[in-house]
Amino acid sequence: MEKIVVLDFGSQYSHLICRRIRDFSVLAELVPYDISLDELKKLEPKGIIFSGGPSSVYISDAPMPAKEIFEMKLPILGICYGHQLIVNNFGGKVKRANKEYGSSLLTIDNDSDLLSGIGGPIRAWMSHGDEAEQVPSSFKTIGHTETVSAAAIADQENSIYGIQFHPEVVHTEQGTTILKNFALKICKVKQEWTMETFVENTVNEISKIDGNVLCGVSGGIDSTVAALLIHKAIGDRLKCIFVDNGLLRLNEEREIEEMFRKNFAVNFSSVNAKQQFLSKLKGITDPEQKRKIVGEEFIRIFTDFAQKNGPFKWLAQGTLYPDVIESGVSKGPAAIIKTHHNVGGLPKWLNLEILEPLRELYKDEVRKVAEILGVPKNLLMRHPFPGPGLAVRIIGEVTDKKLEIAKIASKIVEEELEEAELYDKVWQAYAAVGDDRAVGVVGDERKYGNIVMIRVVDSIDAMTADWTRLPHGLLEKISNRITNEIEDVTWVTYVVSSKPPATIEPQ
Ligand code: XMP
Repeated sequence: MEKIVVLDFGSQYSHLICRRIRDFSVLAELVPYDISLDELKKLEPKGIIFSGGPSSVYISDAPMPAKEIFEMKLPILGICYGHQLIVNNFGGKVKRANKEYGSSLLTIDNDSDLLSGIGGPIRAWMSHGDEAEQVPSSFKTIGHTETVSAAAIADQENSIYGIQFHPEVVHTEQGTTILKNFALKICKVKQEWTMETFVENTVNEISKIDGNVLCGVSGGIDSTVAALLIHKAIGDRLKCIFVDNGLLRLNEEREIEEMFRKNFAVNFSSVNAKQQFLSKLKGITDPEQKRKIVGEEFIRIFTDFAQKNGPFKWLAQGTLYPDVIESGVSKGPAAIIKTHHNVGGLPKWLNLEILEPLRELYKDEVRKVAEILGVPKNLLMRHPFPGPGLAVRIIGEVTDKKLEIAKIASKIVEEELEEAELYDKVWQAYAAVGDDRAVGVVGDERKYGNIVMIRVVDSIDAMTADWTRLPHGLLEKISNRITNEIEDVTWVTYVVSSKPPATIEPQ
């Protein structure tokens, strides 16, 4: 597939450049700036973007692209630090300037393919400490701001461009037009990146593998979509295992099993390991120990299943693109099939290779694939749920009673948010429970019952989160239902701590 390659020089916005380009159906891949020339050539880019970055081109250890990249005769667009790299490479001069953050008015000076169709001045987002003092002689200035004289430069003949501002940030007006001009007009890359073609190509590629595939499914969207893609390619050579650890949301084990059996006809085994998990967790109060126990039990069950139902050659995982980039693993062309031996704690003797069909995708792209594959809407929109499940939402020891309270109270929270049409608008919403108790009065009798904590948060990526300002009437309704419908609960509290300093989960 034709693509644009983005060289990452460390900007907080590098990722966004790819997102924006993919939004208009062009594949964009982020790679480390020091990718070897061979690897870069293997990717067969139609154009290259240098991202921004925190460094300065004039310091001795500044990250530099390989000189040979300029000899590849490909269109290049430098953004911010990338712009300064271009100025520096072609004999211009970069100097330290006054730091500038926020939006500036960009005036267009000359006709260029890059800024064509932009028209009048636009707001452009700046975030820099250096600027071009002298433009290389082969370039002309195509845009300036009040403070930066060479805010956009072009060597039209060689299709090399530099812009000091960030077109990938939404605050830059017509930023997408600029990226589109570069990709479509200048690089002439084809708009082939649609989720339909992704499904087609991926299924085609997976169908070439031999051996059986083992896939752990949690009911979450990533593992479900990974399993469905593989199933489309190799049918019953895929075996899915779902572990009911007794720590799931109310009735979730039944819903997941039904979804797989009714909708997808994949080779699906569910293991009822409730007692196994709960007995191992008995008496354990330390959060980290609880997580460790849950993780170890999963591995034990997986290993046992693999031995009895194997041999398996592959282990499928729902790894997404941001995880791949974060782990610093640069990719070869056969991106979805990677052989390595880090199989998430499973014993080496199982000899499993890793199959990661989603490793090219962002989360919202996975949702689109899920829609194409017919994943029911309620799963598409279901809130994220932690791997160790209710073990981290129950403070202190996991007991049957606390499990029941957490499950029913969470269900009430979800139902009321749905009723108020807020479920899809918030990031996560649940009820947690610990050992603290409070006195209540029911009829004429005093009662000593549990305290339930309601947690509802807004977030974009779970890295930060804000508590959701739910209407008081809705909180009242949730509280009334919980104290009426769960006999053991006397108090309901609402968590008003944001992340940071809190986290989304209580443990
Ligand atoms: P925290 O509590 O760290 O959670 O703010 C951030 C996001 O990650 C989820 N989470 C987990 N997911 N295994 C997972 O798969 C875990 O151990 C785990 N712990 C937290 C949490 O639900 C939230 O979306």
